[in-house]
Amino acid sequence: MKHITCIEDLRELHKRRVPKAFFDYADRGSYSEETLRANRADLQQIKFRQRVLVDISKRDLSTNILGEPAAMPLILAPVGLLGMQHGDGEILACRAAQAAGIPFTQSTMSICSIEDIASSVDKPFWFQLYVMKDRGFIKSLIERAIAVKCSALVLTVDLQVIGQRHQDIKNGMTVPPEWSVSKLIDFATKPTWVSGILRGKRRTFGNLVGHLKGTDDVTALSVWINSQFDTTLNWKDIDWIRSIWPGKLILKGILDVEDAEIAAKTGAQAIVVSNHGGRQLDGAPSSIEVLPEIADSVGSRMEIMFDGGIRSGQDVMRALALGAKSCMIGRAYAYGLGAGGQEGVAKAIEVIAKELTTTMGLCGVNTIAEIGDDVLAV
Ligand SMILES: Cc1cc2nc3c(=O)[nH]c(=O)nc-3n(C[C@H](O)[C@H](O)[C@H](O)COP(=O)(O)O)c2cc1C
Repeated sequence: MKHITCIEDLRELHKRRVPKAFFDYADRGSYSEETLRANRADLQQIKFRQRVLVDISKRDLSTNILGEPAAMPLILAPVGLLGMQHGDGEILACRAAQAAGIPFTQSTMSICSIEDIASSVDKPFWFQLYVMKDRGFIKSLIERAIAVKCSALVLTVDLQVIGQRHQDIKNGMTVPPEWSVSKLIDFATKPTWVSGILRGKRRTFGNLVGHLKGTDDVTALSVWINSQFDTTLNWKDIDWIRSIWPGKLILKGILDVEDAEIAAKTGAQAIVVSNHGGRQLDGAPSSIEVLPEIADSVGSRMEIMFDGGIRSGQDVMRALALGAKSCMIGRAYAYGLGAGGQEGVAKAIEVIAKELTTTMGLCGVNTIAEIGDDVLAV
């Protein structure tokens, strides 16, 4: 990891070390990938004001996230199938986050189960929920998250149907991931990945095993999700979830001011302004484009988290300047995991932290609380 200087280096290494189907699953977006590209392009257009001769010797990234101290305003977003990017990927990513003093969010669609992670780490983590048709099973999933003392529930609201990711279909992404003959040539050139996966605890969806039909057969991932996820899910169901989950609730996938206003009345403590990293509604605006108006309208009533396109500390600074209190990263750490397991995730976090502290310094800012839109050039 010595020569890794930026997230793009981790992406290149991930691409070399992990089979194409799993790299593409992490890297690509839905349909023509307009929103995926907009997330990056719109962040890159935001310019900083360079300020000079300010005492920047006391720079400090520490903050709090949902009332808990955090080493910096960064969260590892829920990412499905981490355990296919690296054996026991969810455990390794959670350990890296906890060592760095930031929250880790486990996806419903993880390879390791909630209990696998809980028994392998020291501190609580967050759990992300997708609501499926079998509400009895969803209730039991929430109860499992309560039993292991997850410290926040992230309800993802932007995936009732799946935005088609062409590349997953072309690559034959299946559930459980298939070890077909056609993939063996690719696997044969990735021996470190293969041995990591073989040593891992599991090779299918750890949270869902034994509960849902379809996980025993091999089905296209998108077909399976479309058949299992609950398309009736609506705002009234938040009350039902809150009747089971007593803790902090975060609604992830808000991209519209009107929805943000409704979200503020649900009793949820936070929203994530997000378009699922350009993997769902293609043609939706970038997350950064809508962030300022959403932060203006509900930022005084709930905590605003942001994701979509963050690949650097500069990007974190841009989102904080436009009203986010903290940022989630998805691909940035998934690349790290594919590139080098726990060390790779730690590297991704370290790269972003160093870039953020330097950017703060060059903008004449010492603390996270000081970052406002006056750090931006208009
Ligand atoms: C490979 C991959 C899998 C994902 N799986 C989930 C998931 O299971 N649940 C969820 O709420 N979001 C999921 N997301 C979306 C992320 O939580 C996050 O919103 C997105 O990655 C942010 O964009 P970024 O990758 O540009 O940082 C996934 C994203 C990626 C890249």
